[in-house]
Amino acid sequence: MARRIPEPFRIKMVEPIRQTTPSDRRRALADAGWNPFLLKAEDVYIDLLTDSGTGAMSDRQWAGLMMGDEAYAGSRNFLRLADTVRELFGYAHTIPTHQGRGAEQILFPELVKRCRGERPVFLSNYHFDTTKAHVELAGARAVNVLTPQALDTGTAYDWKGDFDLARLGQIIEAEGDNVAAVIITITCNSAGGQPVSMDNIRAASELARSRGIPVVIDAARFAENAWFIRERDPAYAGASIPTIAREMFGHGDMFTMSAKKDALVNIGGLCCFKYDEALFREVQVRCVPMEGFVTYGGLAGRDMEALAIGLREGLDDAFLDYRIGQVAYLGERLREGGVPIQYPTGGHAVFVDAARLLPHIPAERFPAHALACELYLEGGVRAVEIGSLLLGRNPQTGQQEPSPFELMRLTIPRRVYTNDHMDYIAECLIEVKQRAAAVRGLAFDYEPPILRHFTARLRPA
Ligand code: F0G
Repeated sequence: MARRIPEPFRIKMVEPIRQTTPSDRRRALADAGWNPFLLKAEDVYIDLLTDSGTGAMSDRQWAGLMMGDEAYAGSRNFLRLADTVRELFGYAHTIPTHQGRGAEQILFPELVKRCRGERPVFLSNYHFDTTKAHVELAGARAVNVLTPQALDTGTAYDWKGDFDLARLGQIIEAEGDNVAAVIITITCNSAGGQPVSMDNIRAASELARSRGIPVVIDAARFAENAWFIRERDPAYAGASIPTIAREMFGHGDMFTMSAKKDALVNIGGLCCFKYDEALFREVQVRCVPMEGFVTYGGLAGRDMEALAIGLREGLDDAFLDYRIGQVAYLGERLREGGVPIQYPTGGHAVFVDAARLLPHIPAERFPAHALACELYLEGGVRAVEIGSLLLGRNPQTGQQEPSPFELMRLTIPRRVYTNDHMDYIAECLIEVKQRAAAVRGLAFDYEPPILRHFTARLRPA
């Protein structure tokens, strides 16, 4: 059994949570149209919908909130945030945004404008769903170039977040001037919070740069990626996490960051540029009407203070050992109970392979979503589907897009739940596994035209 690493903190304040009865849950899920997104949070016992904005801030971050300088322009908290970015990542220019997608919406249209080709395309190991949406809203295409090893969930591979470099090279060759940017997503959320190796980051960046293509780092889980590099790449065994992080960022020209993950805040984002001052100025112009003035970008001064502190706390060794250890511990418990997962576990979540657990449910009946509903009914645990329901239909043909995965994500918020919660989650899911053959797929009562997983209503088929 994986070693349990005790929480490297003491708990100074508690938020009560309430368990419900099976009949409460059945009623709540029916009212929510068999869609856990539509549940009231208070009907959930353990909430694993996302690790985004759901973490607990430290006493230092809370103290930082009291130091907010709410000046409209030039707040000292902004200056401190920009200094922190310069120091940690070596990027000269910082624009705060309300969250990660705020950075995407102000950056991508400018990259499309700069693209010389007729049919702009963004290439990524895997575009997160809002990232893909903002690429498409900017009039470009989003193509994923993930290593095929990521698709084989049962076979261990250290770097399931990597680009398929041979394919990346071929696509860059074939698309020529159309390539607006290469986006390196660290860690790769959609493949299971899987790390990208430093060699792969370097090689992808070199392929892009040799063609003058800008390299964007999608840095939501940058610290977790740095931790995996130290754990798994012997070349970095003795390196500090901040040193590894700085080297990763060195391979990018700009980054977008959802600060709601590794930067340990409940709201916030960043859009930063290493040296391209002209692009920075253009994106600043877009920031003003979309996010807010260039020194607050949708955030209060106090939020920027908490973020500047969180960026450093997120890189702490003891925190990351515990954090990723807790996710691995849950993964081990599930594997011991015979539950198939994306293996090895990633940084922020355990991804359960519903295609293997529920092979009798076809993709168009959403096996991973059905599994999430069963887990909720079993124990009040809320998980999220990453599969066919999320992927949706091809807008041209109206056909369901074939999904490479049918995964249920158990996303672990940072510094919120204890290892006893992990045991409870594992026990509930192992219980569901015992009756897997009886779990039914789901059909639509209401299917929204886009981003359907958020608001769809379903029923057992
Ligand atoms: N990039 C990645 C890799 C993400 O995982 C997310 C958000 C974003 C960008 C967008 O950031 O939410 O701050 O606007 N992921 C969350 C999740 C929502 O649940 O995985 P945002």
